[in-house]
Order: sequence, then C-alpha cells, then structure tokens
Amino acid sequence: MSPRREILSGDSPAQESRSEASNPFALPSDLSIEAAIRPRVLDEFIGQSQIKAHLEVVIKAAQGRGQSVDHLLFAGPPGLGKTSLAQIVANEMGAGFRVTSGPTLVRGGDLAAILNSLNEGDVLFIDEIHRMSKAAGEVLYSAMEDFKLDILVGEGPTARSIRIDLPRFTLIGATTRTGMLTGPLRDRFGFVARLDYYNPDELAAIVRRSAAILEVEVAHKASVEIARRSRGTPRLANRLLRRVRDYVEVHADGVVTEELAEVALEFFGADSLGLDKLDRAILEVMCVTYRGNPVGITTLAATVGEEAETIEDVYEPFLIQAGLIARTRRGRVAGPLAFQHLGLQPPQLFDDLFRE
Ligand SMILES: Nc1ncnc2c1ncn2[C@@H]1O[C@H](COP(=O)(O)OP(=O)(O)OP(=O)(O)O)[C@@H](O)[C@H]1O
Ligand SMILES: [Mg+2]
Repeated sequence: MSPRREILSGDSPAQESRSEASNPFALPSDLSIEAAIRPRVLDEFIGQSQIKAHLEVVIKAAQGRGQSVDHLLFAGPPGLGKTSLAQIVANEMGAGFRVTSGPTLVRGGDLAAILNSLNEGDVLFIDEIHRMSKAAGEVLYSAMEDFKLDILVGEGPTARSIRIDLPRFTLIGATTRTGMLTGPLRDRFGFVARLDYYNPDELAAIVRRSAAILEVEVAHKASVEIARRSRGTPRLANRLLRRVRDYVEVHADGVVTEELAEVALEFFGADSLGLDKLDRAILEVMCVTYRGNPVGITTLAATVGEEAETIEDVYEPFLIQAGLIARTRRGRVAGPLAFQHLGLQPPQLFDDLFRE
C-alpha cells in the first residue's frame, strides 16, 4: 500500500510555484515533471552522503523498536532537497505524510486542529517552520515533547484547561534559516541536518537520473555542462535539463550532445556559473556601483530591491561558496572572480581588501 499523503495547507504546489516563479527557467508544465523526478526512497537521493547515512541509522533504529522516528529538522537554501527528504523519511517508514507550512500557522488553534487529526506514526511536515507564529510554536513545544495538547475550554472564570493525548508522530521541520528558530524549538528536534550545495559530480548524476526518467538521451559531457551551470542546486539542474530538452527537441533529433547542451544553455541565458538575474544584480552593485568597496547588507538589499533576509539566506551563501564575494568586518565585498565574471577589471589594491 502506498503511504497516504494529505495536503493540509500551503502544500507543495503553491510552494513549488513560489520557487518556480522566481526562476527564469521555469514553466508551469514543469510541476508534474517535478513530481515524477523527485526521489522517493533514500537510495534514489543523490549526494548529502553523511546526512543519508545518519538518516538511515535513525530510520532503521526506529523500525527495529517499532516506534516512530524522532523529530527532524532540515535546514539549508532552497532547492537542495529538504521537502524530498521529508517525504522519503515518511516513505521509508511506511508512514502517512501530512504537509503544512509556517506562514499558515497563525493561531495556536490552527496547529492544534492539525495535530489532533494525526494518526499514529504520521509524519507532519512543517515547511518554513521559522515563519510559524509564537502562539503556534507554544502549542508545538508540548506536542513534540510529551505528545500532549493543552486546550483552553470556556471563557473567564469558568475557563479550564483540558489535556488531550496525541498519537506518536514525527515532526519534520524545514527551514532556510536555523538562526530564526527559538532555542526551545531547536532543542526539541532529535536530529538536525544542514543540507549543503551539491558538487558538480553529484549534480551531473542527478541530471542523468532525471534524464532517464524523462527518457531523454543525454551525453555524459552534456550532463556535466548542465551540472556546472546549476548553482549547486538540484532543482536548478532539473530545470536546466528540461529547457535543454525543449531546445534539442525543436532544433535537433533529440539526443543531447555536449555541443547542443552548450548552445541551449546559452540560448536560455544560463550563466556559466549558473547565476540568476538577482545574483548578477548583486555582483553588479558590488563591482560597479561600489567598485569593490564593502557594502552593508541593508544597503545592498535596498539597491537590488530584495529583502535583506532573502539575500542572506538564498543568494549570499552560494556567492560566498563560489568565491565571488566575501563577508568582512566592514561589509560584503566582491572578489576578483566577480569582476572577472562580469568582464570587468578589478580595482587596484583590491586583493588586500578581499582577503581582510
Ligand atoms: N539529492 C537529490 N537527488 C535527486 N534529486 C533531488 C535531490 N535533491 C533535490 N532533488 C530534486 O530537486 C527538487 C527540489 O528539491 P526539494 O523540493 O526537496 O527542495 P527544498 O529544499 O524543499 O526546496 P525549498 O526550500 O524551495 O522548499 C526536487 O523536485 C527533486 O526532484
Ligand atoms: Mg521544500
């Protein structure tokens, strides 16, 4: 029997479209393809080997004891596989998978109703858990710890609290910001996994796996080229593969060769480092407007028209990892690679500043 999957609110279609909307390579028809290529079991999940090894032990141990898995927190930038891993844990446990998201949990009662409807062993996935309200957080604390729900009945002097027993469930939280979780919430997770950007070999393997599911013939070197431009992110690797497939279907006989992949990626404006429009806007502000001088995050955010939080969570980690920008005591600075990437000459005395 395939595990039950129930949508509560703010589930992945909306969530996918949010992430899809921000990407120039996404099309609405991609949503059903996304579902087909999402890994379903741990073995299909490529990369993040340490996290996989840890999860395997956690899952096997729970199965051996006949219990549900301890609460898990998955943290990391968008598109690295947090939702996929949560679904995988439910699948491996043969458990029901219930989905909700932080921003929809406003009143304590919103969450209480969901918790009260869970079945024994269910996985409750709360996406963007850092955006849950304080009231919902308080309901969650005791539910996570004691599997109990305290509900206030009545009003004024006759009000009383009743305690409801909850089934043993597994909470899986996903967040792009661990820093924004309160200590008490963070401490209630039995296992915290931080997902990192994927290396090019892993991304190429993801491209080849997706190509096989989509029945597209992709040359090895073409998969490497797509991987190189994927910003360390499986979601982007899969998207670029789909655009390359579109291009090749229209302009060639269907086999994706290295040459065709390069032409198609150029055609869709996929940057040689996989950077998107906002990544490039950030680099331009830093290299052109500020000529390599340090820029504060608030100023940077205002100049490119994006929230500081988004820049810190989504954009900056990759740009830092790629060696394009650095954080110094005086602010963010663009490095020589950033100037090179934009086809600009780095300013003099620049190396010292970048290495500060
Ligand atoms: N390790 C992996 N192996 C194969 N495919 C992967 C892997 N990780 C992610 N993917 C693919 O990338 C897509 C995005 O992954 P997912 O939705 O799990 O990311 P996420 O971390 O939840 O992103 P967000 O923070 O935006 O919600 C999935 O549809 C899946 O196909
Ligand atoms: Mg997700």
